[in-house]
Amino acid sequence: PPPFPVGPLNDTKAKLVNDKAHPWKPLRPGDIRGPCPGLNTLASHGWLPRNGIATPQQIVLAVQEGFNMQFQTALLVTYAAFIVDGNVITNLLSIGGKSPKTGEDPPHPALVAGLNTHAVFEGDASMTRNDFFFGNNHDFNETLFQDFIDLSNDFGAGKYNLTVAGELRHKRIQDSIANNPNFTFVSPRYVTAFAETTIPVNFFIDGRRENGQLDLDVARGFFQHMRMPNGFFRPSSPRSTDGVDVVLNAHPIRPGHNVGGVNNYVVDPTSADFLNFCLLYTNFVNQTIKSLYPNPTGALRQALNFNLNILFQAFVSFDCTQVFPYGK
Ligand code: HEM
Ligand code: MG
Repeated sequence: PPPFPVGPLNDTKAKLVNDKAHPWKPLRPGDIRGPCPGLNTLASHGWLPRNGIATPQQIVLAVQEGFNMQFQTALLVTYAAFIVDGNVITNLLSIGGKSPKTGEDPPHPALVAGLNTHAVFEGDASMTRNDFFFGNNHDFNETLFQDFIDLSNDFGAGKYNLTVAGELRHKRIQDSIANNPNFTFVSPRYVTAFAETTIPVNFFIDGRRENGQLDLDVARGFFQHMRMPNGFFRPSSPRSTDGVDVVLNAHPIRPGHNVGGVNNYVVDPTSADFLNFCLLYTNFVNQTIKSLYPNPTGALRQALNFNLNILFQAFVSFDCTQVFPYGK
């Protein structure tokens, strides 16, 4: 089997990460990018393979080295996304659309379609990417980024901060309720949507001057151009979703969906939320993963169990009970 991912790192200080060995380069024909500005940027600087096809081990290492993401967080996000969007046999994931470079597909109904895949990990009400319903859930969207700018001007004196995050999160949810008849906002998307709005504050601010206020041209660099500023230092200590409570409390909303059309948001009490994190794990494994892999056998079952064990490691600090949909 592939190795257990490396981490936590010994050296977690701020350091130059837009360095000689990791210059930004423009895309070449065939290079894949997707809905995640963090991974896009790591690929465009060569912290990940520039073609956008990576192993989960490479991703876990790159997000720690390049952005000082906390090891547990890196494991959780990487393995959740990898198991549903990647190829567990070849150990490869596309950070964007489906690609033959991840190898031969396991049997239907498995998708192995990359991070662009809607509703298994990627979801609605993203900050700078549109809802799947409107046709493109992965490319940078200038219209949406104008909201990011406008709210930063209105609530952050021209910078993006956690106060702005609370307002932007609210606006994107209200827009989706009003315009997307298929709007769905349940776990895991409910949790990642709030977490994502803290990322620009936690990861995109230079580690030598962390004041919680992100410059908008730096933000555009990451979100649109997948580019670190010249001389960029990663954060000065390992980070996760610090400040997510501020965003949640600004405009509280429970998990739910539009039912039967727009403007009819109905709460879904079966969804996990921040108060019930083990339910996120259990539902993700028993529902989302199981729906893609209802009855795996042989090497596929072994590979799924290997990766499910790593995913569970990421929940150990939450005191959850491991589930074994495919035996031990
Ligand atoms: C969004 C995957 C790490 C920054 C996303 C999305 C995916 C994803 C699938 C789309 C969700 C959506 O908005 O619908 C991953 C994986 C990671 C990872 C597998 C592995 C650890 C990072 C890191 C950063 C980052 C290290 C930044 C340093 C973001 C941001 C968004 C996002 C800001 C929201 C984009 C938006 O709403 O417009 N990520 N990500 N991610 N990711 Fe990542
Ligand atoms: Mg999205």
